[in-house]
Amino acid sequence: MAESACEYKPGLEGIPAAQSSVSYVDGGKGVLEYRGINIEELAKNSTFLETAYLLIWGELPTTQELAKFEADIIEHRWIKYHIRDMMKCFPEGGHPMDALQASAAALGLFYSRRALDDPQYIYQAVVRILAKIPTMVAAFHQLRNGNDPVKPVGDLGYAGNFLYMLTEKKPEPLVARIFDVCLTLHAEHTINASTFAALVTASTLTDPYAVIASAVGTLAGPLHGGANEEVLAMLKEINSVENVRPFVEERIAKKEKIMGFGHRVYKVKDPRATILQSLAERLFDLIGFDNYYEIALELEKVVGEKLGHKGIYANVDFYSGLVYRRLGIPTDLFTPMFAIARVAGWLAHWKEQLSINRIYRPTQVYVGNHNIQYVAIQERNGR
Ligand code: SDX
Repeated sequence: MAESACEYKPGLEGIPAAQSSVSYVDGGKGVLEYRGINIEELAKNSTFLETAYLLIWGELPTTQELAKFEADIIEHRWIKYHIRDMMKCFPEGGHPMDALQASAAALGLFYSRRALDDPQYIYQAVVRILAKIPTMVAAFHQLRNGNDPVKPVGDLGYAGNFLYMLTEKKPEPLVARIFDVCLTLHAEHTINASTFAALVTASTLTDPYAVIASAVGTLAGPLHGGANEEVLAMLKEINSVENVRPFVEERIAKKEKIMGFGHRVYKVKDPRATILQSLAERLFDLIGFDNYYEIALELEKVVGEKLGHKGIYANVDFYSGLVYRRLGIPTDLFTPMFAIARVAGWLAHWKEQLSINRIYRPTQVYVGNHNIQYVAIQERNGR
């Protein structure tokens, strides 16, 4: 079948690549729903693990189902010494997203049995991956600072335990709650680049650890999950409210992207950015103000003036970094924290793909040559 150029859309913009009931986004109205429930409702009333269960199994768990899920995750939080020893060989200066991608893939070495049609196998893989990803992020951070990984504790929730493994200090309950809401907000977002990577990898029926490793590598890019780290670097570069307007004007003049703004789907402010902004303000009330916040507010105002007409507004990455920075988390761990949350969405789409699988194999519009003659190397050198 000759592919016509009109069917080709760079970046598959606007082209449905999957049929899914996991989440829904209305980019014009700024609506995000997980399994039909508004993100604002979940951020207010749910927890990350309850939301992960909802995304993966399609409905909110009963008290008993949630208790079992949470207990199974606590039981699988620790990581084998083989993985800890492997991480000791990682260069301290390596990026934590690369360490996470390598470690996630390595999990597959220990759980090589593949029984993708066995619900028990699916449940075990979901529990292991959700349980171990935070531990691996925290372990690499401890190792790169010359410390042994901090063992997980069972008396802290999912978010609190991660912050404990990262800092060796048990967080204030409100700080743990704020971080848990951040995880819920980052858990899922229809067919974004890293979820699409997960789908394509899953469609070959490889193991779930390879699926997650593929998604982690995709999320790391600065146009995707890596933007939250770039936003902080940008706020640092701007350094004062007075510098905001000239900074924005220069970026626009140079046609350079302003990190934390714009979105392929949202043409209004990302609803997650609005919730993250209020979380940041709650955190500042609790543990003190962050001077970058004033710069961020001015930046959002000026970008709105200059680019609002193009539908370019703050996205999820714009305020998340301010929350993490106020929690004392190193900037290069911001994207790994995005990954910790998005594992829930990747696993939900992995499970959904298996139920209706057909291997991804799109076509292309060929724009190359035909019937080119082979030329011996001796005759090429005069080129
Ligand atoms: C995430 O897909 C998802 O759901 C992703 C995500 C999720 O939860 O998984 O929401 C998470 O990745 C959020 C996005 C984080 N990335 C950034 O903040 C990086 C900065 N943003 C841009 O790179 C950009 O907005 C994208 C990548 C997010 C979206 O890019 P598109 O849809 O491909 O848009 P485009 O590059 O084609 O730009 C369209 C126009 C261009 O101007 P013109 O050439 O038409 O004049 O808008 C301009 C762009 O120059 N533009 C920007 C801009 N984003 C788009 N101009 C300045 N700053 C920006 N940030």
